[in-house]
Amino acid sequence: MISPDKFKEVVSHFATGVTIVTGTHDDRPYGFTCQTFLSLSVDPALIAIAVSLKSTSWPSISASGKFAVNVLNQDQGELANTFAISGIDKFEGASFDIGITGSPLLLGCLGYIEAEIEREIEAGDHYIVIGKVLDLFRAPGEPLLYFKTKFGKFI
Ligand SMILES: Cc1cc2nc3c(=O)[nH]c(=O)nc-3n(C[C@H](O)[C@H](O)[C@H](O)COP(=O)(O)O)c2cc1C
Repeated sequence: MISPDKFKEVVSHFATGVTIVTGTHDDRPYGFTCQTFLSLSVDPALIAIAVSLKSTSWPSISASGKFAVNVLNQDQGELANTFAISGIDKFEGASFDIGITGSPLLLGCLGYIEAEIEREIEAGDHYIVIGKVLDLFRAPGEPLLYFKTKFGKFI
């Protein structure tokens, strides 16, 4: 048996960027902080994320059939913390545009990838969600990193 604490401690040594996954359902915006983003396939263009079965935002985003991945820049650690809290109004005070999927695109991010949900696969305590990319674009800046449970900068 692998203990959850040991698993988390070891995998926390894999540094990643940080995203906020957003969507809209019944005219309400939803979102949560997500580090498990993957550019899965170039042709066709597919992305993947891993979503906890416990996420309270995901069922609404999933019901809409679409989502956006907002790639955070190095100054957005506070936003990442806010979107990692369940059950609060995460969008209060947040500035965003609306993308072609209807998903909030948070201002000041490094990149945006909008997708249609192609498959959701239950795997352990997460879903692997595969999205077909509908649109994407980037902006200048440096990334927010996550390593050993702390945010950091690339340079
Ligand atoms: C840096 C960071 C990375 C995270 N990555 C993920 C992730 O990849 N998948 C996930 O389901 N939750 C992830 N979380 C946790 C969710 O953001 C958190 O559980 C949040 O409360 C979920 O919000 P919700 O209940 O509104 O869906 C991460 C949190 C942080 C701070």
